[in-house]
Amino acid sequence: MPGITYGENAEKEMEESVDSKSEIWIGVFEGQWFRNFSQESGLFKFFEIFLNNMYICLTYCEQMKQFKSGQYINQGYYKSFQPTFIHRQWNLESMEVIQLLSQADRELGRLDMYSKYIPNVELFIRMHVLKEATQSSKIEGTQTNMEEALLEREDIPLNKRDDWEEIQNYIKAMETAMAMLERLPLSSRLIRETHKILLQGVRGKNKLPGEFRKSQNWIGGASIQDAMFIPPVHTSVPELMSDIEKFIHSDEIYFPDLLKIALVHYQFETIHPFLDGNGRVGRLLIPLYLVSKGILKRPILYLSDFMENHRSTYYDNLMYAREKNDMNQWFKFFLVGIIETSKKGITTFDNILQLQKQVDANIQRLGSRAANAHKITNYLYQRPLVNAERISKIAGISMPSSYKLILALEELNILKEITGSQRGRMYAFENYINLFKSS
Ligand SMILES: Nc1ncnc2c1ncn2[C@@H]1O[C@H](COP(=O)(O)OP(=O)(O)OP(=O)(O)O)[C@@H](O)[C@H]1O
Ligand SMILES: [Mg+2]
Repeated sequence: MPGITYGENAEKEMEESVDSKSEIWIGVFEGQWFRNFSQESGLFKFFEIFLNNMYICLTYCEQMKQFKSGQYINQGYYKSFQPTFIHRQWNLESMEVIQLLSQADRELGRLDMYSKYIPNVELFIRMHVLKEATQSSKIEGTQTNMEEALLEREDIPLNKRDDWEEIQNYIKAMETAMAMLERLPLSSRLIRETHKILLQGVRGKNKLPGEFRKSQNWIGGASIQDAMFIPPVHTSVPELMSDIEKFIHSDEIYFPDLLKIALVHYQFETIHPFLDGNGRVGRLLIPLYLVSKGILKRPILYLSDFMENHRSTYYDNLMYAREKNDMNQWFKFFLVGIIETSKKGITTFDNILQLQKQVDANIQRLGSRAANAHKITNYLYQRPLVNAERISKIAGISMPSSYKLILALEELNILKEITGSQRGRMYAFENYINLFKSS
């Protein structure tokens, strides 16, 4: 028996088998049937070919039918959802999806150009990741804002340290995953390593950091009985994840990359392989995939904002794909997310370039202090919160000179005091932070 084949292969195999099948039927009509029938081996061969053909036909017809997302499995007092594998051929019929796909590709290409033309893109990625991290923590319900996330650990009030740590984990997870991509493919292993970093520390330590879950989980609802959705049984997580991996790396499956990552995100959230952090890891997979495929040079696209702003539609669309066996709505949502987010990213980058120009021009007015001010602003693009000690260190100047420089930068509207107290004063590069807040 042949293995299950889909799409083009099934078609080819069917064509080949239909040829041999018609030979037999021609044989029947020519009176050869008895010859085949009377020979034991011939009889066996006849039925073997017949069954083969039936099997291939059924497989092919199944393929032509609508996509089946999976099935519910009765587990006693609840039903878990067992998704079908995604490593298979996919058809694209909706012109609406194709049109959005072409728009999304175009916008993403434009966004990618910026990583080439902005001289110090590394400085900006950190801010994007920070924004994503702050955003993500908001989805999770924590309250740390961007300014607080930028502070050093010691400057964070004790009751906010767990929130702060979660955000730093997020940044570190992204950075480490990017570094790992240089020597490892985007794989289950890389995903687990990323999860391990994301969930290290106080909050995540009981959530099996770096390990797939070993029990049943559920989404929405206080208990499994009133859950909105119950992911697959935990024993099937490794093979479902390896199916995603195969799909990501398959050369035989022709499907546009943006739709592939849309499917990967959908399937990842459906599997819900971890006890916690599935949303964050699932969202991180998007820039990681885009970079690993060379679509983006640097990880500068984060859909977190979009998903947070349309959270209930996001959840509904995941459910719709599953329940109606229809991926098109999900594809459209995801592509609109890419289009909107890319456009916003482009605007932010444009604004950053403009601000940079303005700041450079203003600094020139400082005369002999311009060189030191330049050192400070370069630092501020990476860490837009400073105090007098740090300024004195970065510029290599005394504390009194540092205070004078701060004053000058305040007058130029580059720094703004944010603590409002005499001791432990912190200064923010507010115009820069606001660009990320409003984008
Ligand atoms: N009906 C659903 N089907 C599949 N996945 C869902 C559904 N509803 C929510 N999700 C996914 O589950 C994620 C939440 O899962 P989990 O708590 O493990 O992740 P998290 O990273 O801790 O949280 P968050 O995404 O809120 O930051 C959501 O972000 C979303 O991606
Ligand atoms: Mg969670």
